[in-house]
Amino acid sequence: MELIQAKDYQDMSQRACSLVLERLRGMEDPVLGLATGSTPEGMYNCLIEAYRKGEASFNNLTTFNLDEYVGLKKEHPKSYHSYMKEKLFKHINIGEDQIHLPNGTAVDLDSECLEYEKLIKNAGKIDLQILGIGLNGHIGFNEPGTSFESRTHMVELDESTRKANARFFSSIEEVPKKAVTMGIGTILDSKEIILLVSGKNKAAALARLLKGEVSESFPASALGEHPNTIIIADESSLNS
Ligand code: F6R
Repeated sequence: MELIQAKDYQDMSQRACSLVLERLRGMEDPVLGLATGSTPEGMYNCLIEAYRKGEASFNNLTTFNLDEYVGLKKEHPKSYHSYMKEKLFKHINIGEDQIHLPNGTAVDLDSECLEYEKLIKNAGKIDLQILGIGLNGHIGFNEPGTSFESRTHMVELDESTRKANARFFSSIEEVPKKAVTMGIGTILDSKEIILLVSGKNKAAALARLLKGEVSESFPASALGEHPNTIIIADESSLNS
């Protein structure tokens, strides 16, 4: 794992954005894995800015998001479909047929998970996967204890994860209890991974990751087994 130290959130976002743009420019039909949450928002803003300035185009891009809540329709304002539309997709040149997120309202969620895996496989490997990290070390919605070989599957969200994500809802009761997420094995299949880490509240998780002990009790530690992972972390997350 390579560590890039950024000054602050803005700097982390810009470095991530530059790296993404550099990689996309070098590929004919890039496949990008995307995350939601607070951490990548600045990077998405920077990508939008680059598009507006005519410095980036996304017409040959395919995207796969890590996860979606179970039970929220695409159009629900708190769904990850809506997040991605609002934070990135509606501002750039990308069409519906280029973007993929799990369908959290599928009648048969097990088939939905298999179908999502198939879609990723048919697109070739994910060239570059963007990740954030949960307070408990989750990546995607793979909570502690998840097998490093797991593929896209349905999960029960940890209470700590629901609490952390309650800030996006009116109350914790509204936060769904389940989600569909790419598995850790799915994530590790990506050719390259960029993990973004920002803020004091992530310092303990980052310190644990950097210690290097690989264990299923700490999902992000799986990245230690990936040959091509870059962590971009800001100063506040590095000062534990
Ligand atoms: C989001 C995701 C999660 C988040 C993590 C950090 O699609 O898969 O793993 O990356 O919960 O969230 P933030 O960035 O809000 O701290």
